[in-house]
Amino acid sequence: MKLGMVGTGLIVGEQLQQMEHRPGYTVEAIASTPRSLPHARELAARHAIPACYDDFLEMIVDADIDTVYVGVPNALHLAVTRAALGAGKNVICEKPLAMGLEEAQDASDLARERGLFLWEAMNIPYLPNYETLRSLLPKVGEPKVAACSYIQRSRRYDAFRAGETPSVFDPARGGGALMDLGIYVIHYLVGLFGEPERVSYAANVVRGVDTSGILTLDFGGLVATGVVAKDAEGPSRCLVEGTEGYLLQDSKPSSCGPITCHLRDGSETRHDDNGFAAPERRWDAEFASFERDFETGDLGHCYRMLDLSLTAARVLDEARASAGIALPDSHG
Ligand SMILES: NC(=O)c1ccc[n+]([C@@H]2O[C@H](COP(=O)([O-])OP(=O)(O)OC[C@H]3O[C@@H](n4cnc5c(N)ncnc54)[C@H](OP(=O)(O)O)[C@@H]3O)[C@@H](O)[C@H]2O)c1
Repeated sequence: MKLGMVGTGLIVGEQLQQMEHRPGYTVEAIASTPRSLPHARELAARHAIPACYDDFLEMIVDADIDTVYVGVPNALHLAVTRAALGAGKNVICEKPLAMGLEEAQDASDLARERGLFLWEAMNIPYLPNYETLRSLLPKVGEPKVAACSYIQRSRRYDAFRAGETPSVFDPARGGGALMDLGIYVIHYLVGLFGEPERVSYAANVVRGVDTSGILTLDFGGLVATGVVAKDAEGPSRCLVEGTEGYLLQDSKPSSCGPITCHLRDGSETRHDDNGFAAPERRWDAEFASFERDFETGDLGHCYRMLDLSLTAARVLDEARASAGIALPDSHG
């Protein structure tokens, strides 16, 4: 796949480093803001990227690419995705796919109309351990309660406390704990249990942005909580408790580390099928899947995964509404 990257921030830097493990991908171009063009040029030099642009629209039209990777703040995902799809390019869009369901549906409709690939870069559904977790579920009988926490004090939290507004804490750019971390918890739970009947979110809101909060997803006969924090320290883990035992993953939902299965008979088994040790390899499986879809023309698989993204977007909307958090102007 011939990629054009949009963005020059944290995630684009990390993904460029990982490209050496993805021989099926080449990066042909990178687009930044005019302000960040010098940084884009540095990245281009370091990663042998042939073309640099300070306007993503120009890159989409001019560059020799088939797929656009969207690595910009959340509030810009739809604009870049629409422009790329409109120009006949496939899209890998960073999580969350869009600000909410209306935007996610818009992007999804356009991809389907044009017969193009649109993948949300959300690694959880592609991780081998997640598949293992799903296959272990019947062992714990009827799942009754689940608890999934993603606690990650942001490296930008001190700047936020000092009065700055980095994108991940900027409500206007789609920041906040729900959008940044809650989306993982939602994917994790929705992928296991389907669409919830009711959703609520209680949040700590500072300067208009949720820095942490607690999600509740009611699946009817099974209730789940999701604790997310960008302003606190603590362990992250995921637990599914059922009538016959429980499954414990003692790691962040996004890494889906080893799982232990504890049954009523006292037995305990450990499962670790991810096949990688370094945390930065946690994106390998999703990129391999995108490549497979692309090489085989499997739009059906891509769109089934996109349906999951739409469900997650619907949950985001309900959670946000229940906490009284408004979408920024022009995204409502
Ligand atoms: N999958 C994962 O594991 C993962 C991890 C982290 C983040 N993400 C996602 O990745 C996205 C970006 O997050 P981040 O942490 O990388 O944010 P970030 O460090 O704030 O970077 C955002 C980048 O987007 C650039 N940008 C803004 N508007 C642009 C435009 N019109 N054209 C080109 N570039 C533009 C910014 O440039 P300026 O600095 O010049 O404004 C900056 O380089 C978010 O959606 C986030 O949810 C995913």
